[in-house]
Amino acid sequence: PTLEKELLPLYFGWFLAKRDEDGMRKTSHEFLEQLGNLKAFKKRLLPYGCEDKQKLDLLKYFAKSPNILHCTAKYCDYGKVLGSEEYAQQEAVKKAYSKGYTLHISALFATPKTVGAQVELQPDQLLVWPADAEKEVMPKDTFPKGSRAHITLGTAADIQDVQTGIDLLEFIKLQQSGKDGEHLGDLTGAVAGKVSYYDNGMWLLNLSRKLEVKSIFSGYYG
Ligand code: A2P
Repeated sequence: PTLEKELLPLYFGWFLAKRDEDGMRKTSHEFLEQLGNLKAFKKRLLPYGCEDKQKLDLLKYFAKSPNILHCTAKYCDYGKVLGSEEYAQQEAVKKAYSKGYTLHISALFATPKTVGAQVELQPDQLLVWPADAEKEVMPKDTFPKGSRAHITLGTAADIQDVQTGIDLLEFIKLQQSGKDGEHLGDLTGAVAGKVSYYDNGMWLLNLSRKLEVKSIFSGYYG
């Protein structure tokens, strides 16, 4: 018998359960609708390529949304990415594979490029988080492990999904340097929380009640 080589996925990650995925898409729409209607947002449309006080439909602006909502743990590109073989062979990864996890979402954010959810990884989830995930995209900065964890909810035209985690790290970098953003409004209902503005069209909603979504850790083969 021939010994088959194990195939590596496009990426490993936590995939939202169908029902929670539908809920998350609704929450994302609600966030963009309420954010777009904030007076403070309407006055700051320039970073979104619009004149101030013009109408901007954020649901249309973020034209693309991933087919399957997920939180990427390790991007492998079917093994082309250095270290993906080692990652897949880790005991913690094998053990986590096909297991259920609850993802904790503490904030939603929008920038001129992406809209996403900040995921607060729990200790058992951090076991499968790559040590170099943050350094990989921001080599000059230091972040707590797991800082890049997010769910891409949408991207503007011509923007790659990978940008969402980079945008999230940009918020965290500003927070680390003591710039917590300007409190410019509040959202209500399912997306209740404080909205802060961080310049350059960067908006962050700190949720009053953290969202919890069910997910399964697995590989996506495309
Ligand atoms: P994200 O995790 O921010 O959503 P693609 O379709 O471009 O191949 O991407 C598939 C998934 O892998 C997306 O979820 C994407 O971004 C993520 N991804 C793409 N490139 C990278 C990368 N270099 N590092 C980490 N994640 C990546």
